[in-house]
Amino acid sequence: MNYDIENPDIKEILNALSYCIFDDDLDYTNDSFYDNIVSIFKEHYHKPFKADNGCSKGVLIFEKLGFVIKIPFNYCDGYELCAVTEGDSEWDYCSQEANRYKMAVDAEVEEAFLPTYYLTSIDCYPIYIQPYAEILENLSFEKYNEKSNNSSKEDRETLEDFNDTQGFYQLNVVWEGEFYTLHGIDYFVRLKNFFKQHHIRDLRTANIGYYNNKPVLVDYASFDE
Ligand SMILES: Nc1ncnc2c1ncn2[C@@H]1O[C@H](COP(=O)(O)OP(=O)(O)OP(=O)(O)O)[C@@H](O)[C@H]1O
Ligand SMILES: [Mg+2]
Repeated sequence: MNYDIENPDIKEILNALSYCIFDDDLDYTNDSFYDNIVSIFKEHYHKPFKADNGCSKGVLIFEKLGFVIKIPFNYCDGYELCAVTEGDSEWDYCSQEANRYKMAVDAEVEEAFLPTYYLTSIDCYPIYIQPYAEILENLSFEKYNEKSNNSSKEDRETLEDFNDTQGFYQLNVVWEGEFYTLHGIDYFVRLKNFFKQHHIRDLRTANIGYYNNKPVLVDYASFDE
């Protein structure tokens, strides 16, 4: 997939987004994301999409096109929005994700991360893109069971021991088991160290999933409690 702003599907989406209000005075709480972005976007984009959001990002989901558009919420006043595409940002968690991905490449642990890329800016407001993934939280019961058969019992038992000694974060046992079966212990340990080093701690079922049937993380911005 070519994540270029000249790609006709992306161009169409960006055109519809250009009618939305990206203003750092807006309080991008969950409700205003829908009011200000999703509803205006809907008026100008007439193809199927879904919208979701967490605490720090709005997400427009284009399952058929195979990608999502991620829009950081601006929680802080007075930020120079034009300046946030380079380096880390305190409020732009999408840019943190994009940067974490580059760091994961340098640390040779990137297979676990579904890449987030800076796409463009609208009125100086940064817009990001990421491949579409099946989110673990949204899997049907049948599919979840099917996934649990993909990880071997021995591997899951090893993980239980490993997690007991490491006291690690709350990764889902099915996702984790599949991941471990696929990549093995050495990679798994390196990945967990990477999580620790970069404060990647929120690994709930809403933040992890599957891309091409392989377990991946979709939300891996760092955060401190
Ligand atoms: N690549 C993707 N493919 C499909 N759905 C996605 C993707 N990325 C995010 N989503 C959906 O959008 C939701 C919000 O995205 P994300 O978790 O990145 O935002 P967030 O604001 O950082 O969330 P949090 O509340 O965990 O901080 C996810 O829980 C997931 O359901
Ligand atoms: Mg999330």
